[in-house]
Amino acid sequence: MTFEDQLKQKTEEIERILYSYLPAEEGFASTVISAMNYSVKAGGKRLRPIFMKETFRMFGGKGKVINPFLAAQELIHTYSLVHDDLEVMDNDAFRRGRKTTHVVYGEAMAVLAGDGLLNMAYETALKAFEESGAVKKRVIRAMEVLSGKAGLYGMLGGQSADVGLEKAEKAPDEQELRYIHENKTGALIQSSLMIGGILAGADEEEVEKLERAGLLIGLAFQIEDDILDVTGNEEILGKPVGSDQKNNKTTYVTMYGLERAGLDAQRLSEEALGILGGFPGKNKFLCQLVRSLVGRDR
Ligand code: IPE
Ligand code: IPE
Ligand code: MG
Ligand code: MG
Ligand code: MG
Repeated sequence: MTFEDQLKQKTEEIERILYSYLPAEEGFASTVISAMNYSVKAGGKRLRPIFMKETFRMFGGKGKVINPFLAAQELIHTYSLVHDDLEVMDNDAFRRGRKTTHVVYGEAMAVLAGDGLLNMAYETALKAFEESGAVKKRVIRAMEVLSGKAGLYGMLGGQSADVGLEKAEKAPDEQELRYIHENKTGALIQSSLMIGGILAGADEEEVEKLERAGLLIGLAFQIEDDILDVTGNEEILGKPVGSDQKNNKTTYVTMYGLERAGLDAQRLSEEALGILGGFPGKNKFLCQLVRSLVGRDR
């Protein structure tokens, strides 16, 4: 099977698992539930759960204990996108190939849908304790990483610094931009790899290496995202091109230029592959996936 066929199959499998945890659209809160499901079902690359599952496999993980975490991570990621697109943030009307949640459901419902997704992520992850063969200590550690990397010392911190500087009309310096990228994007990719390892029984030293690899992949991923905001094709990308410029944003591209950005993404990604290649377990697909993100078109 080609890499593309494998990716398609794995994406579909993640979606089956993810959809199985989505709430039924009924009751007096059904509008917010529709808004939540609308944003999740719009698609997306499902990269974070794929990273999690493939790392789990690389460390010999078996069973369904990972499933609630696969869904939880994508719910957290989707909440971050719903809020990121709000008028008070990046003010974007197009995401994952369709109108953004706030355009369809209004700002208030989009804020609540984001909150709902975040909350549901933790409700979902907790279901891992119910899976047969769940190792309690590992699930607790995975919960710590899931919540920690999504919060103040992770994605939320990065988004806050990003939006804060933009609203203050201040350009980040090199250290600040690095902090923003590491956190707004790096953190959830780190937790994806780390949770995959933790649930499969990786030791602390290995988890630290996964944290480092996730950081490098995340940095490369956000550099490419900044590149695509300039060079991308809206139809393929499924979100607006030129959003950063519209918001007068300092990005990796405005700071270092397109050429260096591309080279740096390549270098970071290769460093990550070096770490992944050093583990005793091998996962060729995971390495191909990391490679495929450099120079991607969506
Ligand atoms: C978009 O993430 C936000 C960033 C961190 C750059 P993705 O590019 O993974 O978005 P989806 O999930 O495929 O829509
Ligand atoms: C946002 O970065 C990363 C998040 C945590 C949502 P961007 O604002 O660059 O993401 P896109 O380009 O809108 O997907
Ligand atoms: Mg943003
Ligand atoms: Mg944005
Ligand atoms: Mg972007």
